[in-house]
Amino acid sequence: MEQPMTSGMEPNELTALISAADRPADEVAAAIATAGPDRVVDTLLAEIAARTRAIGGAEEKVGVRFELSFDTDRVVRVVTAGSEVWEIGLDQEDEPLVTIRQDLVELLRAVFATGGPHHATRDMMIADSAEPHGLAADDPWLRRRRAAVLTAHQVVEATYGRFTDLTRLAVAFDADKWGGHWYTPHYQRYFEPLRDQQVKVLEIGIGGYDDPALGGASLRMWKHYFRRGQIYGLDIFLKEGIAEPRLHTVRGDQGDPEFLRRFAAEFGPFDIVVDDGSHFSEHVRTSFQVLFPHVRPGGRYAIEDTQSSYWPGWGGSSDLAASGTSMAMVKALLDGLNHQEQIRPEELSPTAVERTVTAVHAHHNLVVIEKGSNAEQGAPVWVPKTVDPRTWYAGR
Ligand SMILES: C[S@@+](CC[C@H](N)C(=O)[O-])C[C@H]1O[C@@H](n2cnc3c(N)ncnc32)[C@H](O)[C@@H]1O
Repeated sequence: MEQPMTSGMEPNELTALISAADRPADEVAAAIATAGPDRVVDTLLAEIAARTRAIGGAEEKVGVRFELSFDTDRVVRVVTAGSEVWEIGLDQEDEPLVTIRQDLVELLRAVFATGGPHHATRDMMIADSAEPHGLAADDPWLRRRRAAVLTAHQVVEATYGRFTDLTRLAVAFDADKWGGHWYTPHYQRYFEPLRDQQVKVLEIGIGGYDDPALGGASLRMWKHYFRRGQIYGLDIFLKEGIAEPRLHTVRGDQGDPEFLRRFAAEFGPFDIVVDDGSHFSEHVRTSFQVLFPHVRPGGRYAIEDTQSSYWPGWGGSSDLAASGTSMAMVKALLDGLNHQEQIRPEELSPTAVERTVTAVHAHHNLVVIEKGSNAEQGAPVWVPKTVDPRTWYAGR
């Protein structure tokens, strides 16, 4: 199996750092000391830089100097921020327009803790050594100052990364889950309770097909929605070009159950699985059968673009009663929700899927399945089931 592509800290190391963000200050400091303050600073700035893509910034480039204190040490980085991309360097720029000083323990909490805002030790300064020439709107001094303020604000928003609106993230990262498809409001409804948890999210289908550097729009959207999560993308093509911290890619075929089993054993269990892969009915069914057992209780499994279930070219069928399609599987899940109430031969015990699917939310082209325990008591044994209940009432 291709190993997941990643950069910066190993996923486990980063997960440990994110967990530490919610612990007492001395434990946060110990976690920073273990990982190394310089590496932690670079990881946090990379995270902030990635988040800035979802926030409007200044058109021109602005230097931002971070001075982060840790015990008696100070780690300094100068970042060149712009509306497009951040460059993070060690160079001391002559006079960065913005300077941010903060305690490193607090910055780690600001970026990754569940609470917030964590800014008691932060000082922000905007350089004012030059003098304004005048007060005209196009005065260069005013323009630079405006750019500095915009950038400072961009940094603050990105540091906390509380993006409450998934649709906004979809638009910012060019994910087609809103615009053409209209999935993000549904996802927000079902995924919101998991948002602050250290979730593991798997999306099948990275996008960009055989170009290793193209695609990943939705993976980036999930990364910033789940600001403490690890995001995995699975695709039949190698997608090494899009890996970044907290975002990993694995190559494999969602229609191959053996591969999926090995993949899930190595990278699961997952809190969320989103199937946006081939959309072939057989693949959709195989992926669900193999991967649903590897979804944690309380997790969700989503199947996108279920329209293909009605299209013969995609292994679907225009016959609504056909078996073997992805929607036929979904319809069977509905019956399974009520397995306790079905009249079945004694020896036919409920399947693992029947016992663990707790809700099936079906929308236009999107199905979201919730996992948990579906072992609620059925109707009492004395309730008549095979005779007309009115004959039973009449005798009372
Ligand atoms: C619609 S695109 C995914 C878009 C992406 N989820 C997004 O929202 O940004 C479908 C992707 O599924 C991949 N794919 C097709 N067949 C597959 C298979 N059998 N197993 C895994 N991935 C597959 C394609 O290579 C393609 O990149």
